[in-house]
Amino acid sequence: MTAENLETLLASIDLSQPAPQEEPLRQYYFLKKCRLHVQKEAEKLGRPLTACVTTFGCQMNARDSEKLSGILEQAGYVLSDSEEADFDIYNTCTVRDNADQRVYGRLGRLNGLKKKNPHMKVALCGCMMQEPGTIEKIRKSYRFVDLIFGTHNIFKFAELLNAVFEQDGMIVDIWQGTDRIVEDLPVERKYAFKSGINIMFGCNNFCSYCIVPYVRGRERSRDPKDILREIKQLAADGVVEVMLLGQNVNSYGKNLEQPVTFAELLSEVVKIEGIRRVRFMTSHPKDLSDDLIRVMASSDKICRHLHLPLQSGSTRILRAMNRRYTKEQYLALVDRIRNAIPDIALTTDIIVGFPGETPEDVDETIDVIRRVGFDNAFTFIYSKRTGTPAASMQNQVPEELVRTGFDRVLKTVQETARQQVKRLSGRTMEALVEEVNEHDASLVTGRLSNNTLVHFPGDPSLIGQIVPVKLEEYKGFYFLGRRAEETKQDAAAHRQSGEP
Ligand code: SAH
Ligand code: SF4
Ligand code: F3S
Repeated sequence: MTAENLETLLASIDLSQPAPQEEPLRQYYFLKKCRLHVQKEAEKLGRPLTACVTTFGCQMNARDSEKLSGILEQAGYVLSDSEEADFDIYNTCTVRDNADQRVYGRLGRLNGLKKKNPHMKVALCGCMMQEPGTIEKIRKSYRFVDLIFGTHNIFKFAELLNAVFEQDGMIVDIWQGTDRIVEDLPVERKYAFKSGINIMFGCNNFCSYCIVPYVRGRERSRDPKDILREIKQLAADGVVEVMLLGQNVNSYGKNLEQPVTFAELLSEVVKIEGIRRVRFMTSHPKDLSDDLIRVMASSDKICRHLHLPLQSGSTRILRAMNRRYTKEQYLALVDRIRNAIPDIALTTDIIVGFPGETPEDVDETIDVIRRVGFDNAFTFIYSKRTGTPAASMQNQVPEELVRTGFDRVLKTVQETARQQVKRLSGRTMEALVEEVNEHDASLVTGRLSNNTLVHFPGDPSLIGQIVPVKLEEYKGFYFLGRRAEETKQDAAAHRQSGEP
């Protein structure tokens, strides 16, 4: 929805009437109410109100944060990166225990801030809130929290925010599940030139270690028409790169009334004018079709990168993980992908220390890493998640053994990734410039189609542009480079001055 359409819609809402039942209209009604509350409080304080959204989880969590930001901004808050804000919201993750611990640690600090600024409101949402036990713990030990909601009712944020202004005490609204998808709510993108797009929600795979199906609920796909409409709108807004998001994009569309495959969706997305790059996350190896490989090979717009979580290279462990592929099937899939798309970068996720894992199983994982040669791999220590089948397995691996295995895997990943990425040295490739380099303001950071980063001299005016960059120096996982045109000019300048 454009800003103008939003204002027209809000102007047409009559707050003297009861809130409408249908969505998303109901949320726009409450958004209008929130505006009045925010305005009143800002007048009282004599300054604009600020809000800070903190993301703890994956790309889907980050996309949800953009939806929260959209509502906050439309309600009249000025978005800020500082937690010393009038409204602080933590969008939590619970995939591993350390994600939970980070939230609790930072909540302690928020309590201190809230004592200094009693107007401050604190909200918690996201995956961790869906876990049994969390709410009780927060009620007991973090009583200063004003609002808690979960993953299934995030579309109700405007309504819940309004309730924070109108009710006293902690507001808790957690749904156990939903089959609803509410379209057309405001979103505030973090980047002007690229955006994530949810194509599906939830997960049906129940890998035996994983909490996600419990906290995100069953798989639901968005209607392809809604997805394509959203991407066309993004393209009109100046977005050049989109990332299609789902826990398992390869099973997209199976549960729609008129089933559509992910390959079919993707081939429609690449037709959208203005979109120059398409990425997607995450692919489950068991569902990756030959059709998808064909579509990927057929379009230059589809980035030369595939994240294909392996989890383990041992067929025995894969079975216990309920991953539904074997070591050999994974390797054969990689061969099919590499044959069709030779320049593709493959990245992966690996878990070390799953119950029953022996050093020999770790050897199998290392064997796959060596044979595939991943461009990057995220290696995780197995974390026991209450309620998952793996948590009650008897053969949990002792910490020391897990450490040794983890270090071996990490070392292999680093060696192979280095070799893999280094092969690009000296080539000129297109990079989408994303930001000014954090450490050196004379450099900008760009992302190659294959997801590798390159830092090169440039200024902020380049942000959002796709430019050719020569990859000059490999620095371990990233490159230092130079804009290709500049290199030509430099060469010309050198010739004129008689230098070699
Ligand atoms: N849907 C995606 C993964 C989402 S979670 C997929 O299936 O690929 C991201 C990664 O976290 C997983 O790939 C896995 O490697 C890791 N992970 C999930 N649960 C974990 C656990 N209990 N302990 C350690 N790592 C875990
Ligand atoms: Fe978790 Fe497996 Fe679903 Fe990924 S596919 S979210 S690892 S259950
Ligand atoms: Fe974490 Fe939820 Fe994503 S548990 S990894 S934020 S789906």
